[in-house]
Parts: sequence; structure tokens; C-alpha cells
Amino acid sequence: MRFNNKIAIVTGSSSGNGRAIALALAAGGARLVCSDLTSRARPEGFETDLHIDTDQLIRDNGGEAIFVRADVSRHGDMQALVEAAVERFGRLDIMINNAGVAVELKTIVEETEADYDLTMNVNTKGTWLGCKFAITQMMKQPVSDSGTRGKIVNISSIGGLVGLAQEASYCASKGAVNNLTRQLAVDFAAHKINVNAVCPGFLATAMVRQELDNPEIKTLLEDLTPWPRIGNVDDVAKAVAFLASEEAQWMTGSLLTVDGAYTAQ
Ligand SMILES: NC(=O)c1ccc[n+]([C@@H]2O[C@H](COP(=O)([O-])OP(=O)(O)OC[C@H]3O[C@@H](n4cnc5c(N)ncnc54)[C@H](O)[C@@H]3O)[C@@H](O)[C@H]2O)c1
Repeated sequence: MRFNNKIAIVTGSSSGNGRAIALALAAGGARLVCSDLTSRARPEGFETDLHIDTDQLIRDNGGEAIFVRADVSRHGDMQALVEAAVERFGRLDIMINNAGVAVELKTIVEETEADYDLTMNVNTKGTWLGCKFAITQMMKQPVSDSGTRGKIVNISSIGGLVGLAQEASYCASKGAVNNLTRQLAVDFAAHKINVNAVCPGFLATAMVRQELDNPEIKTLLEDLTPWPRIGNVDDVAKAVAFLASEEAQWMTGSLLTVDGAYTAQ
């Protein structure tokens, strides 16, 4: 299988994109360290099996998975998360920095300092910490038979590439994730560590449940997306699985849009 014997961490794995990514990697044979603030899925999610935790679902499907609680914005939690993966499985091959937050839509005039701090701490600092401890571990590991030392995929957003209305802190946080991704690719290409980002467009997850439950905003998001539907978590998970696979060995520092042509306009 595609990810046989590979060890993967997915942050924010209990809901939405993180859950779909963890399930996709496990379906390919990876052994998973699922991580989130809690193992319970957000109830606003769109999946029909939200009552089953992601790590349990992987085990129910015959895979191997553990859950490790970590707040991505905390240095000690992220260090302990990578240590837990290595203690349990011996190494770390794939790090998916997916956990993220978005505050309600408002302009910078209404945004508070607390909104900014939360968004930057989770989306940007969380990704920085995830990359820092994953790369520290990967640098201790030999290059695998398939020619890489480790793969990192950061879940960014179209909001890191263009300005999205009323999402000042969110766009700032994802713009930083995108350029951090490129910077790390430069520093660690010689060491055969791949660092890429996926930039999804508008998706149906708990994060945007409030907007999608408003028919006017739902129609607006659909109209803004050239492809005749908004995205879903499997669209994102498939692109992440590609970047985490050996098929993408010479891809690093890439910002891969998965957005139904939103940013192509
Ligand atoms: N939904 C979209 O339209 C969309 C579009 C582009 C990018 N994204 C990105 O995809 C990623 C996943 O978002 P989603 O849409 O699946 O949202 P979601 O709310 O369904 O899932 C996010 C998960 O992250 C976890 N999380 C939040 N703060 C955390 C923290 N401090 N530490 C650890 N875990 C934490 C939550 O508990 C939750 O399980 C985010 O980075 C988001 O910015 C989402």
C-alpha cells in the first residue's frame, strides 16, 4: 500500500479536513497519531459518523491509530506530541499541520486583539511549532529507501494567497503559513525533507457551518466558486495524500490550490 510502514501525525484530526486526512492516510496503510484538543468531533460537522472518534474509526477499519491530546499553540504540547509518536512507533514520516480556527466574519475595525491572537496562535504559531518539532525529529532519521527523510504538509487556505472579505486575521495567518512553507522547503531540501502546503477553497466543514446554514451566504460561496459545487474534505484529503506520498518526491515549497478554480480567476 501507498503508506505501508509510514508513521503520520495529523493535528486537528477530530473534525473536518483533519479527520478525512487521517482516514485517507490510514486507508493507505499509515499508522496514525491523531491529535486535537479533544478526541470528540465537532457536532457541527457534516459527517454521518461523528459519534465515533477518528482514531477509533481507523481501528474499526483494521488500521492502527492512537490519540494524543495537544493544543498546537503550546510549545510543550507539540514537543510532547512528536515525542509520543516516536515513543510509540519509532519514527515520524509524515506531519500534517491541519488544526486551524476562523473567527466570525468581520472587518479589521470590528476584529479584536483576542481574535487576532487566537487566529495567529493556532494557525501560524501552531504550524511553526509542528514544523519545528517534526523537522527536528526527521533530521535524526536516515533517508528512507524511497529517498526522503520526511514529509510535511501544512493545511493553509486560499486566504493565504488572496484577500477574502472580512477575514483579516485569518488571511494574515495563512499568508504566513504559505511563506513559512516555502522558507522551510529551502532550508531542508538538501536534507530531503519535503515541506508543502495545500490551499483549499470554500469547503463544507464545522468551521463554516454557521455560514452554510445561511442560504444567502451559501449561495454566495457557491457563486464565488467556478466549479459547480463547493469543496469537501475528501477533495482536500486526496491532495494531501498525494503530497505525503513518494509520487511527490521532487515537490517541495509548493502551494497546491484545491479550490474549484477560485484563485484561477
Ligand atoms: N472549511 C473551510 O472552508 C476551509 C478552507 C480552507 C482551509 N481550511 C483549513 O482547514 C483546516 C481544518 O479546518 P476544518 O475546516 O476542518 O475545521 P474544523 O473546525 O472542522 O476542524 C478543525 C479542528 O482543529 C481543532 N483545533 C482547533 N484549535 C486547535 C488547537 N489549538 N489545537 C489543536 N487542535 C485544534 C478543532 O478541535 C477541530 O477538530 C484549518 O487549518 C482551516 O483553516 C478550511
